[in-house]
Amino acid sequence: MNRSSSSYFKYFVWLLFPIFGAYLLYPYMMASEQQQQQQQPRQVLPTNVKPNHYDLWLKPHLDTFVFEGRVKVNLDVIESTRVITLNTHEIKILSATLGYDDETLSSADISYDPKKTTASLTFSGTVPAHSQALLDITFEGILNDQMTGFYRSSYKDDQGNTKYLATTQFEPTDARRAFPCWDEPSLKATYDITLAVPTELTALSNMNVIDEEKLKDDEKWKQVKYATTPLMSTYLVAFVVGPFEYIEAFTTGKHNGNPIQTRVYTLPGSSEQGRLALNVAVEALEFFAEQFGEPYPLPKMDMVAIPDFESGAMENWGLVTYRNVYLLFDEKASSIQFKKSTAYVVCHELAHQWFGNLVTMQWWNELYLNEAFATWVGWLAVDHIYPEWDIWTSFVNEDMPRALKLDALRSSHAIEVDVADASEIHQIFDAISYDKGASVIRMLSSWLGVDTFLGGVRRYIQKHKWGNASSNDLWNSLSEEAGMDVAKFMTLWTKHVGYPVLTIQPSGPDSINVTQSRFLSTGDLNAQDEVTTWWVPLHMLCSDGDIKPYILTEPSQTFQIPSDGLFKLNAGQTALYRVHYPQATILRLADQIKQQDQELLGTADRVGLISDVGSLMVSGEQSTTAFLELARSFEHEKEYFVWSQLASHMKSLISAWYEQPKEVMDGLLSVRRELFGPLAERLGWDVRANENDLTNLLRVLAISNAGLSKHEATIQEAKKRFWAYVEGDNEVLHPNLRSTVFNIVLSELTNNNGNDDELTRAWEAVLTIYQDESLSSDQRLMALVALGYTRDAALIERYLAMASDESQVRSQDVIYIYSRLGDSVEGRDRLYKYFVDNFDKLHVKFSKNISMFGNIVQSTVQGYASFDKLKVIKEFFKDKDTKEYARPLQQSLESIHVRAKWVERDSDSVRTWILSQ
Ligand code: BES
Ligand code: ZN
Repeated sequence: MNRSSSSYFKYFVWLLFPIFGAYLLYPYMMASEQQQQQQQPRQVLPTNVKPNHYDLWLKPHLDTFVFEGRVKVNLDVIESTRVITLNTHEIKILSATLGYDDETLSSADISYDPKKTTASLTFSGTVPAHSQALLDITFEGILNDQMTGFYRSSYKDDQGNTKYLATTQFEPTDARRAFPCWDEPSLKATYDITLAVPTELTALSNMNVIDEEKLKDDEKWKQVKYATTPLMSTYLVAFVVGPFEYIEAFTTGKHNGNPIQTRVYTLPGSSEQGRLALNVAVEALEFFAEQFGEPYPLPKMDMVAIPDFESGAMENWGLVTYRNVYLLFDEKASSIQFKKSTAYVVCHELAHQWFGNLVTMQWWNELYLNEAFATWVGWLAVDHIYPEWDIWTSFVNEDMPRALKLDALRSSHAIEVDVADASEIHQIFDAISYDKGASVIRMLSSWLGVDTFLGGVRRYIQKHKWGNASSNDLWNSLSEEAGMDVAKFMTLWTKHVGYPVLTIQPSGPDSINVTQSRFLSTGDLNAQDEVTTWWVPLHMLCSDGDIKPYILTEPSQTFQIPSDGLFKLNAGQTALYRVHYPQATILRLADQIKQQDQELLGTADRVGLISDVGSLMVSGEQSTTAFLELARSFEHEKEYFVWSQLASHMKSLISAWYEQPKEVMDGLLSVRRELFGPLAERLGWDVRANENDLTNLLRVLAISNAGLSKHEATIQEAKKRFWAYVEGDNEVLHPNLRSTVFNIVLSELTNNNGNDDELTRAWEAVLTIYQDESLSSDQRLMALVALGYTRDAALIERYLAMASDESQVRSQDVIYIYSRLGDSVEGRDRLYKYFVDNFDKLHVKFSKNISMFGNIVQSTVQGYASFDKLKVIKEFFKDKDTKEYARPLQQSLESIHVRAKWVERDSDSVRTWILSQ
């Protein structure tokens, strides 16, 4: 039962909160440094035998939630032995025999080690070294409801009856819950899979069906046999059984040889909502085949929407599984934000079909190879399919800040980090592996040039396909292609924690001194902190538009700047660092922005400038009022991403300041209102014909920020449209704006001391939308989140009660409620009290899935920003056994500390500034 995971999908929670901008909502889990120091040995299986082929038969029972199984494994016997140890988890082995030559050994003893999740089979005799043996095991397991291994997921049929489907989630270490196996990524084998299922259901697996026949002894069952897989790792095996329908398309075959049959499977009635994902998939498969110089390796690609799904999506080879909201998109009814996330998630998972599935990391310490690369190349594919989305600026606005934020904590970890067991592996699916990894790859690819970089990747794939590889193999292929030592540069970034802040000081009339040191958001770097001298590409953008390719390689160096003093480092924001400019330089840049001279500072540069100043105000290198002044230079800004970055930092400021006096809070809201109100008015409420997607996103952002900053006109219009919509006028509220309007209305309405039930009516109307199973999953989810915008105590209690009622909210979605309340000024104390009062009950309920409990702890305390509260929270956890959630807890505490320090340092100057306005 020892299970922990930290799925990355939670970082996408921000999609539901346009006002939060990109990355400020969710803190992260991480491996603490102490833990790295007391590194445990890797928990791996003995190497006396090695599997090379599995013949697997499974029969899941969707009424009793039990599955029967039989697996025959071909083994290379390396050392003579009578004991075979393999992985199992909650599997009951019924029989085991071991055959070699003409001998058959029976099993004399089976012993389980539930902690190590292994079973050891002792046989009646010894199997000699160098023989080929066949291990034949029959077993039984549970179709669990924990969203892991071979599990059940529920749905309602036409009559509203609850029914179940069966599906799998094996990465990283849960194939062992479905069949006894050698569950390590480097032990690749081929698979013949057969599923026995009720005749009316569709059964899918990695490969295409080669045979289907009714069971002789029971006509209600059929047996479906799939083609032999290529060599693959256990974590990529998958099967899905349910009453699915599908839509289908084929790749052109231009880069793939044969056209690839590509399908989206859904429960009955939803398959059309898979159209966007299907179109993206077909294009992405062609794109990747071309870029990787290797056709898609399997004959088909199936993608399935699963109603209960722990993470966001999973790249099982040939059978990718998704959370509904990341696969289904209804052109008429879904919100624009989900178009981008769906396209991206599809591209990310399809990238893994090569990078991860065809070439696999040796061990989980190099998980980042999989995830960082799929993140970078996933966005590369989205950029190819939707060039109008300005994807790399989006990356600078969303992905990079997630990396920079986590890596600015002492408790972050290096990209390459050793992991010993399942729980440690789960915890590195974080912003370091994904976003810092992808940022570092982007930094390298822009340094080498994307074409050269991809040339190196092609070499790597050709050399290691069907096998396993390590970072060094990738650096070697890239070095061969580029003719330079890539490892020397990259290991500085992958083997060391943190990243630098460059402090700029004038050192002459036209030169600056640049000093690097690790950036910490606590702002208190000391002698004990690890010292790294990074190689930093400066990319100095000069006033004449020239970009100087300087590289900083020393702790401190002097560089030439233009004589007019106007420059910006990190042109295009392709490299990973923060810049601390002298105030004079910032003023020069702000002037440039006011003049709307967008020729010089591109969109990504403007985003980067805000991002740097916004983070340095938290750590104390720059003042909060300087940020507020800078923010005002953007009143004429046109680009969505720049506004989004501004909104993120305004939001984090307002939320850290929430205990400040009313006049200060009103002052901060008015700064935001004055920025976003006019923008909202300019854009209006109605989507115009031929408007591009970024303008649509900007409208949502503007209305949301204006409406939640007391912009009266926006609030009135929101209320008007809300009631018209609730009364049945579907046209009055564009799907893009529905959740924003729900949020504004529920946050503005009060129950007027019980004299008016408008709030309750509104809240219940949104609840009804959440409960309407005929609506698209994104709309339902956004309604669920909107319910938490109310400030009313009684309604907050009702909302909290929903979180513990599985008949109302699926356990995969509970985290959205906690996140919302933890982030709400009126919600967080109630949530905290509820959490404290119900601690034991919550722990029993959610700790079966450790990541869930950790996430709940994190969400509950995430919003606080004072030393007093920090003390209270520490006190509460003092006598608890926090082992299972020590990291999310520790990290949340560190974040509270960062914000408390920030408020303590700058609240007076902000107050003075506001009162002087
Ligand atoms: N390989 C992961 C799925 C995964 C996540 C398995 C966590 C085990 C634990 C998949 O490729 C992935 O990265 N999924 C993301 C969404 C993605 C689009 C960023 C996820 O599920 O968080
Ligand atoms: Zn991934």
